[in-house]
Amino acid sequence: MQYRRFGRTNWQVSEIGYGMWGLAGWTGSDQKEIEQSLDRSVELGCNFFDTAWAYAAGKSEQILGQLIKRNGNKRLYCATKIPAKNFKWPAKAEYSLKDCYPASHIIEYTEKSLKNLKLECIDLQQFHVWDDSWSDQDDWKKGIEKLKKDGKVKHFGISVNRWEPDNVLKALQTGLIDAVQVIYNIFDQNPEDNLFPLCRKLDIGVIARVPFDEGTLTGTLTKDTTFPKDDWRSTYFVPENLIPSVEHAEALRPLIPKGMTMPEMALRFILANDDVHTIIPGMRKIKNVEVNLASSDGKKLQESLLSKLRAHRWDRSPTVWSQ
Ligand SMILES: NC(=O)c1ccc[n+]([C@@H]2O[C@H](COP(=O)([O-])OP(=O)(O)OC[C@H]3O[C@@H](n4cnc5c(N)ncnc54)[C@H](OP(=O)(O)O)[C@@H]3O)[C@@H](O)[C@H]2O)c1
Repeated sequence: MQYRRFGRTNWQVSEIGYGMWGLAGWTGSDQKEIEQSLDRSVELGCNFFDTAWAYAAGKSEQILGQLIKRNGNKRLYCATKIPAKNFKWPAKAEYSLKDCYPASHIIEYTEKSLKNLKLECIDLQQFHVWDDSWSDQDDWKKGIEKLKKDGKVKHFGISVNRWEPDNVLKALQTGLIDAVQVIYNIFDQNPEDNLFPLCRKLDIGVIARVPFDEGTLTGTLTKDTTFPKDDWRSTYFVPENLIPSVEHAEALRPLIPKGMTMPEMALRFILANDDVHTIIPGMRKIKNVEVNLASSDGKKLQESLLSKLRAHRWDRSPTVWSQ
């Protein structure tokens, strides 16, 4: 495992971190295998774990708390998120700061997360949604100042809404946000336009999430794939999304180098960008942990392949099903 400096936090984070949404919140999880997968990731050098209160109302946080306890001798970085007070994803321009992140709510949900995690202090507390129109208002800043003063949070970050990488630029200029979490993968390259240059300038930590486009870039979805009704993917991979997603993924097949898989190529594409500090694939299986973490070996994809992959950029706009 290779490590990168996580912006001005100065943490050395593993290039491949761990996305902890699916293991509590998606259907088809096996509790025992989840624990084994997490333990295996720590053995292999993973030290950055991303969860959220909203991932099954604290269950994913509890699983992370137990992992940190089992590995008390290792420095594992814990990133979690505060849901918006109106519990709506994503934030919309018409929602007020008062509806979403008043200081009292930021403090209340950080206390809940600390209990779930059984920790005294959260390394990275993130806003789970954001609208940049809130950036010049004061109430969220008061919440941050209090939690930092009380030693309950080390650093704050923002998890940017799907396909809106610029909807955070003003917040980053306040100096209160040390990390950003954004969708970045072979399709979603638009954080390169404005977000990554600003993060570089301000020395902000960058977390690349959804490296497999929620599954499309694993190459395992087909136009006939369905998900159980109680799995959020049944509302996301509606035909209007599933069909073009599968077509875009199939168009990549001829580019996969011999001996490589599509998920490995997807991770190596992101690893080639030094603006990214850690990637957090969602994983519930030991075999996925082992192959994903193995991609952090310092070997870069060839420039000729990278430039072909860049041509597969696919800019999308938020819509009714995109969440
Ligand atoms: N708003 C937000 O802040 C937000 C939104 C979305 C995600 N996130 C964070 O980002 C993380 C990653 O996103 P995600 O989990 O939604 O999507 P993702 O990482 O793009 O895709 C996860 C899917 O890929 C599969 N997978 C992983 N490695 C694989 C491999 N080597 N071969 C084949 N399949 C593989 C997983 O299978 P298994 O599950 O069976 O292992 C899962 O179905 C989340 O877990 C969460 O921490 C944050």
